Amino acid sequence: MTAKAPLVDSFGRVHTDLRISVTDRCNIRCFYCMPNENVQFKPRDELLTFEEIERFVRVVAPCGITKLRLTGGEPLVRRDLDGLIARLVNIPGIDDIALTTNGILLAEQAAALRAAGLQRLNVSLDALDADLFRQIARRDGLEQVLAGIEAAQRVGFDKIKLNAVAIRGLTESQIVPLGRFARERGLELRFIEFMPLDAEKHWADEQVLSGETIVRILAAEFGPLDPIAAPHPGQPASDYRFVDGGGTVGFINSVTEPFCETCNRLRLTAEGQVRNCLFSVEEWDARAVLRSGGTDDELESLVRKSIAAKRAGHGIHTDQFQRPERAMFQIGG
Ligand code: 5AD
Ligand code: SF4
Repeated sequence: MTAKAPLVDSFGRVHTDLRISVTDRCNIRCFYCMPNENVQFKPRDELLTFEEIERFVRVVAPCGITKLRLTGGEPLVRRDLDGLIARLVNIPGIDDIALTTNGILLAEQAAALRAAGLQRLNVSLDALDADLFRQIARRDGLEQVLAGIEAAQRVGFDKIKLNAVAIRGLTESQIVPLGRFARERGLELRFIEFMPLDAEKHWADEQVLSGETIVRILAAEFGPLDPIAAPHPGQPASDYRFVDGGGTVGFINSVTEPFCETCNRLRLTAEGQVRNCLFSVEEWDARAVLRSGGTDDELESLVRKSIAAKRAGHGIHTDQFQRPERAMFQIGG
C-alpha cells in the first residue's frame, strides 16, 4: 500500500475513523432516532453493495483511515453482514473494525461476526426495565438484547460497550440498574447525551441528561468515581473509574461538552453519501462516482473535498445551528 497524504481538514484535524452505515432499516423504533410509523426506507438498489463499500474503504485506507465502525439503522438486519466484515478485515491499513448494534439479532449472529474477524462491539441499551424499553424503542426486544449480550460474551467478545442514551425526565431510574448490570458482567457502560437527530424533531435542550448529573447518581450508589485521562485525543468519551474497582463508565457529552475540536471521523451513509459530520447539512455523492465508472482518484478527491469543507463544530447552542435534514437512522451513529 502506497501511503497518501492524510485526510487533514482546515482546522488541522486528521481523519482516521470511518463510520459506515450499511442500512437505514431497523427492527425497532427508538423515539430519539426514527419515526414510529410509515418510515421511508431507501430502496435496496440505492444502497451501496458490499463490493462498493469495499472499494471505498480501499481508496481511503491509504489516506490514513485505520478504524472502521459499521452502523445503521440496525446493521444486523443487512443480510450476510459477516461477509462484509470478512472483506474489510483484509484491507491493508485497516487495523480495527467495530460494530454498533441494538443487539436484537445478536444472539443468532455473534458467532459468525466473531469468525469473520469483528474485533469490537457496542450494544445499545437504554433501559433494563421492560416497560421503559418498550416506551423508548416502541417495540419489544429487551429479552433478545440481553440474550445477545450474553451470546457475544460467550463467543469471546470482550470489552463490549453498552451505549445508553440518557434522557432527562425518562431514564434516570435506569442509571443505577445499568451501572450494576455493567459492573457485574464486565461491560463498559457509556452514557450518551440525547442529540437533536430524532426524526420526529421533538428534541429539546431540557431533555438532555448531562454526564455530570449521571456521575453524581452513580457515585451516590457505588461510591466515588475518578476521571481517567484520555489515552488518545479524538476519543469522545470522558471516562471514569469506580474507585472500588468496579470498572469504568464513559460519558459522551456531545451536547454539553462538545468534542468537535478533536473529531477524527468521516461518515459514509448507506446510499453512499460522504458526510463530514453527524450534523453536516451537505453531502458528497460517492455512489455517483462508484456507479459511473469513476476512478479511485476521483473517489479520493471527493472525500478530500468533503474533509476540506468540514466546519469547526456542530454549534448546537448557536443561533446559526441548523438541524440536518436526515435523522440518526439515515446517517449512522
Ligand atoms: N442522540 C444520541 N444518541 C443517539 N443514538 C441514536 N439516536 C441518538 C440521538 N438522537 C445512539 C443509539 C446508538 C448510537 C448509534 O447512537 O442509541 O447507541
Ligand atoms: Fe434502530 Fe438504533 Fe435508531 Fe434505535 S437508535 S431505532 S436501534 S437505528
